[in-house]
Amino acid sequence: MKAPLQFSYENAMEAVVGRDGLAATDLDPQAALAALDAFRKRVDSGEIGFPNLPDDSTTVRAISEFAGDMRGQVDDVIVVGIGGSALGAYALDVAMRGPHPVQTDGKGKAARPRLVVLDNVDPGFIAAALQRVNPKRALVCVIAKSGSTAETLSTFLIVREWLGKAVSKRARSRIVAVTDAHKGDLLAIAKQEQYPLFFVPANVGGRFSVFTPVGLVPAALIGLDIGKLMRGAGDANLLAWSRDFDHNFALASAAVHWALNTKRGKAIEVVYAYSSFLWAAAFWYRQLWAESLGKRVNRKGEAVETGQTPVAALGVTDQHSQSQLYMEGPRDKMITFWVVEKSRADRKIPRDFRQFDSCGYLGGKKLSELFQAEMRATEAALTEAGRPNCRWTLPKVDEYTVGAFFQTMEFQTAFAGELYGVDAFDQPGVELGKKLTYGLLGRKGYEEYAKRVK
Ligand code: PA5
Repeated sequence: MKAPLQFSYENAMEAVVGRDGLAATDLDPQAALAALDAFRKRVDSGEIGFPNLPDDSTTVRAISEFAGDMRGQVDDVIVVGIGGSALGAYALDVAMRGPHPVQTDGKGKAARPRLVVLDNVDPGFIAAALQRVNPKRALVCVIAKSGSTAETLSTFLIVREWLGKAVSKRARSRIVAVTDAHKGDLLAIAKQEQYPLFFVPANVGGRFSVFTPVGLVPAALIGLDIGKLMRGAGDANLLAWSRDFDHNFALASAAVHWALNTKRGKAIEVVYAYSSFLWAAAFWYRQLWAESLGKRVNRKGEAVETGQTPVAALGVTDQHSQSQLYMEGPRDKMITFWVVEKSRADRKIPRDFRQFDSCGYLGGKKLSELFQAEMRATEAALTEAGRPNCRWTLPKVDEYTVGAFFQTMEFQTAFAGELYGVDAFDQPGVELGKKLTYGLLGRKGYEEYAKRVK
């Protein structure tokens, strides 16, 4: 099998970037393989489930059938969810159909149905979204693994009322729910209201759930080929379980990130996505990396306060916004380039105004030449400035490659969790904020928490 992606990290090495790079001895393939083995045990025991998702063809078939039944009836798919229950669907939408608001169906027409992600309870945002969408042609996907997330349930109640006013009893036929199969209020509500239901496996956490119905239901509803996505993810699995360190890119990348963070003080990872199509994916990844590795204690219960802060940057746009800092600012960063070899379309730059220096050298070149040259120049400049960097290369952005890339990022995160010695699959740090909010809003049992907020 030809690797669906490439990963290179020469520019993360001391031999290339000098003192901020890694010595060969900083990368210990044996330690990395021990991390792989430790993670494999957790998967084999059934504790962690995301690596097995690409084998679940039954779910893919059921979702495809459901989406097929809805085809032609929907102009807007509204996702009501947050965090891991929203970011994956949005990332897939933007990867496959382009950034909002200029999405196309690949044949020059506006992409339909639109994906509207209501992942913030900013009242102005929710009001504007509901004003713009025709409820009679909308389908609502309410997604919450826990079934009790305050932001999701409050938005859902508002959206349900909005839908009910427009289509009355038919509202329940315009709602689909994705949640845990055995517990939670959303499950009970969905059963009571008889919404179609899809389930998130208990052993797949929110930020690792893009290949469960959490990501697949919205993706199928907007017309993406979810079978192809899963084939890409499945092929990524084959490489991610390989014991060949040099060809197991997820493992090598985890080791490089971990070593740059813990041995060279690179507390920040800048993901420099050279593709507007991968811009939302950078935000999906940001959650995956931050929430998984940012931990106060390790798995032995010792205080470690560890993790690497992910920052999303867009190439070339952020060359005119962030690159100055990356080149000359604090030496606390590593840069990860996300590069796409073949752009979906291209344009020739007209040979107009050739008498002007600033236009003359551009005329007749393809826009892709400029785009690639700028990426290579930025990478070379950072390398020359001694700033460690590495690169993921995707041959193109389609469902297969994106499936492989997302699954690889999840493996990279899981392996990194083992290297840091933390549990990459929990998020205890967000609990206090939730409880204080419950207290402020008068939720029963949280009265004491209200007193702690000034
Ligand atoms: O990764 C996670 O587990 C979280 O970010 C969750 O996805 C997020 O809190 C939303 O949870 P839920 O799906 O229960 O609404």
